[in-house]
Amino acid sequence: MSIPRKKNLVVLISGSGSNLQAFIDTVAQNTLPARIACVISNIADVYGLQRAQAAGIATQVLPHKDFATREDYDRALLSAVQQYKPDLVILAGFMRILTPIFVAPLYGKLMNIHPSLLPKYPGLHTHQRAIDAKDTEAGATVHFVSTELDGGPIIIQARVAIMPDDTTDTLAQRVLQQEHIIYPQAVRWFCEERLHCNEHHAILDGVTLPLTGAPL
Ligand code: GRF
Repeated sequence: MSIPRKKNLVVLISGSGSNLQAFIDTVAQNTLPARIACVISNIADVYGLQRAQAAGIATQVLPHKDFATREDYDRALLSAVQQYKPDLVILAGFMRILTPIFVAPLYGKLMNIHPSLLPKYPGLHTHQRAIDAKDTEAGATVHFVSTELDGGPIIIQARVAIMPDDTTDTLAQRVLQQEHIIYPQAVRWFCEERLHCNEHHAILDGVTLPLTGAPL
């Protein structure tokens, strides 16, 4: 069996970049057959950019404030990303709603992590919403990105019990620990050419995954 070549990743961030760090670490440990070609942020001075620079990865800041419309921004973002000829574009805390201008050309090559058990709680404030609803569990979801907000074929989910004394912060911390496991796992499957998607489902090792993705 031939060994797939290393895949080119572009990671988009808007903040602390702890998920980015998980990718940097797994690449460094040689457990992800990939190289991170560039990290792009829509916000200058975020900590994730420092993490990338410390790892010797090229960075680019593309401020959304410089563009008149969301569509203009997405066109510029797409061309910035395509410069690197990515096999996979990874949204890692990239806090922008993306239009079809960006998403459609990248369908099947664009992944996101969302801090809820999708399809529950798309959008913001997921942990507070789960606590307010007295849910017994929360979690995170890695999915291929479709043009629907926080939609697209689900690859893998991690579940975390909600404790009676949980605050948004304590719950977010425990969910984040799981994110750092499931996101590199999903990207590893992709880079090993074991994972792709059709319109509604992710397909792993030739098996169509259920709508909740692969079990952890
Ligand atoms: C994570 O909770 C992720 O699920 C959400 O944004 C947060 C990013 O955290 N989309 P970090 O920047 O990777 O630390």
